[in-house]
Amino acid sequence: MTAARAELDRLWARGTEFLGCKVAIMGGAMSWVSERHLVSAISNAGGFGVIACGSMNPAQLEAEIAATQAMTDKPFGVNLITMHPQLDDLVRVCLAGKVGHVVLAGGIPPGGAVRAVKDGGARLIAFAPALVLAKRMVRSGADALVIEGSEAGGHIGPVSLTVLAQEILPHIREVPVFVAGGLGRGEAILSYLDMGASGAQLGTRFAAAAESIAHPNFKRAFLRANARDALPSVQVDERFPVIPVRGLVNEGTKRFLKHQADTRDRFQSGELTKEAAQLEIEHFWAGALRRAVIEGDVEQGSVMAGQSVGMVTSIQTTAEIIAELMSQATAALAARSGK
Ligand SMILES: Cc1cc2nc3c(=O)[nH]c(=O)nc-3n(C[C@H](O)[C@H](O)[C@H](O)COP(=O)(O)O)c2cc1C
Repeated sequence: MTAARAELDRLWARGTEFLGCKVAIMGGAMSWVSERHLVSAISNAGGFGVIACGSMNPAQLEAEIAATQAMTDKPFGVNLITMHPQLDDLVRVCLAGKVGHVVLAGGIPPGGAVRAVKDGGARLIAFAPALVLAKRMVRSGADALVIEGSEAGGHIGPVSLTVLAQEILPHIREVPVFVAGGLGRGEAILSYLDMGASGAQLGTRFAAAAESIAHPNFKRAFLRANARDALPSVQVDERFPVIPVRGLVNEGTKRFLKHQADTRDRFQSGELTKEAAQLEIEHFWAGALRRAVIEGDVEQGSVMAGQSVGMVTSIQTTAEIIAELMSQATAALAARSGK
């Protein structure tokens, strides 16, 4: 092993120890994308795959965990969305399936779910969008945190990773912290390890991996896109909030603007109540991620992607992506020490 690789292993030792793998790079859970094939491929390549359960019911999750275990003997995690109506059942499925790490995403995790995960012997990973919430999550039992900047693909908060990392990393030493959002190269991962991160989470680059089941049209859209094409969804009227989602601009995102304006007009003319109008707006994207990822409709569907999409330049295997990130990080380390 080179001195640079040994140094990288030292820098992210807390992360690899916590995850139980060789490379402290997590595959961020992506609904429809992060299923058995991609998750097992990431774990088999030394990283840490995470199943996205957003679109699954308990029986589907049980089958997905078993199928993933059949494809890898390495550890992997499951990401549950806190507002899922069957959250408690999903936690039980993870524990019964001997999943070692449960990620609770999409809001502050309810106390009951936190206790259930921990009492069941699994490790709990939570998202922290601000320092106060990071401290609160640690107090309430999170074993690790992910800080995800607004550069990321999918649902995003307002603050970039550059700023979140400066706000949170120097102050949270109790648990390992993984950084996410906009990461596409090993040197960038290394810079956050230097600041105190224990590892990184990447989504966009893995969505375009050879083992990802995303439709060829979805991957082609990633290959064509630049960072500037991955924009947050736009809210037309402050009375009707829209949760920001970062994705590639297409016909669907343009139609969404018109849909919001039309729905607001129907509210103003008295045709719709405020609640009905809000629901109409929220329902616009129902099923749209599946449409893009599985059916390949990248014009009308939701092509969630991070700004890191500009660094997707070819279809690589997950092993190649991880090897490339590691070689960039170790080359930077070697250059530092003049070797
Ligand atoms: C297509 C897509 C779907 C995603 N779906 C989810 C999800 O279901 N749950 C979640 O916690 N994060 C989701 N994310 C966020 C990723 O887990 C990860 O944190 C993010 O992609 C990291 O930023 P990057 O894309 O710049 O690497 C999604 C991201 C993408 C690109």
